[in-house]
Amino acid sequence: MTSTATAHPNIALAKYWGKRDDALIIPATGSLSLTLDVFPTTTSVTVSDDAADAVELDGAALAGEESNRVRSVLDRVRELSGRTEKARVVSVNTVPTAAGLASSAAAFAALATAAADAFGLSADDRMLSRIARRGSGSASRSIFRGVARWNAGTDDESSYAEPLAWHGPALAMVVAIVSSKRKAVSSRTAMRRTVETSPYFAAWVASSATLLEQMSDAVAAGDLETVGELTEQSALRMHASMFGAVPPVRYLSAASLALFDTVLNLRSDGIEAYATADAGPNVKVLCRSDQAAEVVAGLSAVIPDADYVVAHAGPGAHIVDGVGA
Ligand code: DP6
Repeated sequence: MTSTATAHPNIALAKYWGKRDDALIIPATGSLSLTLDVFPTTTSVTVSDDAADAVELDGAALAGEESNRVRSVLDRVRELSGRTEKARVVSVNTVPTAAGLASSAAAFAALATAAADAFGLSADDRMLSRIARRGSGSASRSIFRGVARWNAGTDDESSYAEPLAWHGPALAMVVAIVSSKRKAVSSRTAMRRTVETSPYFAAWVASSATLLEQMSDAVAAGDLETVGELTEQSALRMHASMFGAVPPVRYLSAASLALFDTVLNLRSDGIEAYATADAGPNVKVLCRSDQAAEVVAGLSAVIPDADYVVAHAGPGAHIVDGVGA
């Protein structure tokens, strides 16, 4: 039996950075994101009689830490479905892997959705979100379309994402790609280092709780200006917490900062645009769909070397008819 699912990356507006439980991936903070309509990952899971799970990503066999993460999702699906067979997993990414473009979020959301279906587990979206979380925390949010909030929770049961309604202007996310290189420090390692060594981590956690509530209220009110301002605050505070780690973690490059500055200038010209960045130098700019072209024009006038991709709110993870694994 083969099941195939597709999922899209999401970009956090209120960031997740730091875990309180590394094994179950229970985050230190809740977070809120926008699922995009670009760079999907498609994953097929086939239940097999093999002696071990086999995982292939973009045509290459996966081993080590990454395949362990896949196995932790498969193990959870086996546990919940009461089955013991192994699986063959074949995944195709359309986003530059590990360049801070949330490829793991799409990958593990697609994996959870395909694996649950292949093993005959009838899981609702909340359960899929909890399963996807075992592979990568941010994947819990890519189960859902559009705006989603991941409630930090305190255990496996209570740590899941859920969709939030957005009645404000149609949203776009302009992705400014300044580098597609694999990052030097994985977000998992950087997160752990921040938790263990940064004197700013406690302040990050405390301030995130307040910010998440403010942002959730602004989402409910359809208030893009407040959501956007809080988006920039969350990103910069997250990066500040990493700057304080030993040794420091710095994902933002000179080009990233130039993009943040340009976004600020666009705002003073009356364009509603707000910058954010994750575990890499690429910058994502939240804006109104009807102003996305102006945002691209404004950014590329100052930073012509970057590649610009305009994304909109995208669909949640779902089963598709795929070619067999
Ligand atoms: C900066 O979800 O990739 O993108 O749970 O260790 O797999 P793991 O981390 P991951 O971290 C994402 C961090 C972030 C912010 C965010 O997406 O909220």
